[in-house]
Amino acid sequence: MANRLACHVAGLPLPNPVMPASGTFDYHPDVRTPVDVARLGALIPKSITLHPQPGNPPSRLAETPAGLINSIGIPSPGLAAFQDKFRSVYGGVPCPLVISVAGYSPDEYAQLTQACSRWPEVVAIELNLSCPNLKTHLMPAQDPILLRDAVQAARAATVKPLWAKLSPNVTTIAPMAAIAHDAGADAVVAINTIRAMAINIERQKAILGHFTGGLSGPAILPIGLSMVWDIAQHTSVPVIGCGGIRTVDDALMYLMAGASAVQVGTATFAHPAAMMDIINGLDRYLADQGIAQIADIIGIAKPA
Ligand SMILES: Cc1cc2nc3c(=O)[nH]c(=O)nc-3n(C[C@H](O)[C@H](O)[C@H](O)COP(=O)(O)O)c2cc1C
Repeated sequence: MANRLACHVAGLPLPNPVMPASGTFDYHPDVRTPVDVARLGALIPKSITLHPQPGNPPSRLAETPAGLINSIGIPSPGLAAFQDKFRSVYGGVPCPLVISVAGYSPDEYAQLTQACSRWPEVVAIELNLSCPNLKTHLMPAQDPILLRDAVQAARAATVKPLWAKLSPNVTTIAPMAAIAHDAGADAVVAINTIRAMAINIERQKAILGHFTGGLSGPAILPIGLSMVWDIAQHTSVPVIGCGGIRTVDDALMYLMAGASAVQVGTATFAHPAAMMDIINGLDRYLADQGIAQIADIIGIAKPA
């Protein structure tokens, strides 16, 4: 029987449109989890940086009524250590592999992208554009020039599909998506976390060691959805939806708003099998509705 869930992201074929959001799920051949990695549309491990770095000081997590604020930062072994362990960890990965890279300058994005493109298992590179630039201390995802420069540098370093992960912490997201597309990104991912804060009133101090962090989880779903909608309405760049997806209904909303695929993050912490349930639920939805392929619902909510 044909796979109803088989899909494409900017021409890249994937077995289904469901994948983890970077930093929220990883794979090791010796570790069993409730996630059957062979059934994922793709796997995206935590972003890696060029040089080793420890991440942010504790505390790194604060729960909110409908979400999670994290200030994990990017604890990273650095590219050299990642390369050393790549074959033993990801050599036999049973689904398409996307590597997320985080650079502090265009040159770092280029080096990381080039290095990670040489493995045949890697089907695409995702650019985490929410790292402060070394010179300006601004994030590429928030600054049109830095965004263009980072994506162009990565584009020149690979022939593999390039996904630019955008930040919701901007006035309007569609122009940023268009800039990423013009600079060579094949697709954009929307959204990363939303800047947020929590205070412990007993200690009269910020809960997070980094003071502020990024909000994720159900609270941000309507925001991510509107941003995917805006990108789909105003640009021609394929978009991968992310932000607050917990259930098959959530994933369907993103697909109907115009997302070619979806990423599931915080939901996996509360419900480790969430991605499996969403994959099963999507297949069931298509069967119940008599829809032959997932592509038939992508962007279906758009005005005629
Ligand atoms: C604990 C944690 C770590 C994260 N680490 C990364 C990361 O390394 N790279 C990245 O691009 N996004 C990272 N993110 C953001 C997620 O990939 C995702 O964009 C965001 O959490 C929104 O999706 P969600 O509401 O489904 O969690 C992280 C999020 C969380 C909660």
